[in-house]
Amino acid sequence: MGEPARWAGDIERRGTSQEHTMNSTMLPDDFYEKIKPRLHRRIGRELRVARRVLDIGCGSCDLVQYLARTYHQDVTGVDMSSKGFPKRSRSSTGGRVHCINKDATRLDFTRDETVDAVVTMWALHEMSHPLAILREARRVLRAGGEILIVDFPRDSLADRLWTEDYLRPGQVAEMLEEARFSHVTSRLTERGQILWAKGYRPEAQMGRVDG
Ligand SMILES: C[S@@+](CC[C@H](N)C(=O)[O-])C[C@H]1O[C@@H](n2cnc3c(N)ncnc32)[C@H](O)[C@@H]1O
Repeated sequence: MGEPARWAGDIERRGTSQEHTMNSTMLPDDFYEKIKPRLHRRIGRELRVARRVLDIGCGSCDLVQYLARTYHQDVTGVDMSSKGFPKRSRSSTGGRVHCINKDATRLDFTRDETVDAVVTMWALHEMSHPLAILREARRVLRAGGEILIVDFPRDSLADRLWTEDYLRPGQVAEMLEEARFSHVTSRLTERGQILWAKGYRPEAQMGRVDG
């Protein structure tokens, strides 16, 4: 997984990314569909050292299957809807794929500290109880494990295409901190059309019970 780059409070956390932001009226309506394979590759590179990965709000399990196929990871996807779930539980190259039809506010199918990385793509903005889900993600992550949030941000092309309540990088950073993740960063990428946030479950400290 990527190194914990910097502490929250830096410039990215407030969403003022240095990266070029494009006016969304100049982008084609299929922009997000077009960049999806690249986002999968970026996510794969970010989480490549993880053995067990959990994808929250996995949809039809495209990312789950990509990670299992490319990095041979054991990947569990969870989604409220099972529409489009694959029939097979093993990818052609051996990584294990497991898709669970469930609300992610309770990840009771996963024991504490058993997952190396949690990812959620294009889904956090849809969740009615995002903080509860982030707390569950923290519970199942092992110490040092990474959470990666990839979503449509406020004031992006998504606002023009759909009518959902998108979040700003600073709001996601605050939520991650409230769920007690460390080394939180949250910024815009892909011409300002994607929110990319991450944090880590802190390592246990000597003499301290870290719940
Ligand atoms: C826009 S889709 C994204 C799907 C997929 N991650 C992708 O990249 O294509 C958002 C998904 O989040 C799921 N979702 C929303 N709230 C959820 C919750 N509380 N628990 C589990 N899944 C949820 C929806 O059912 C939907 O499949």
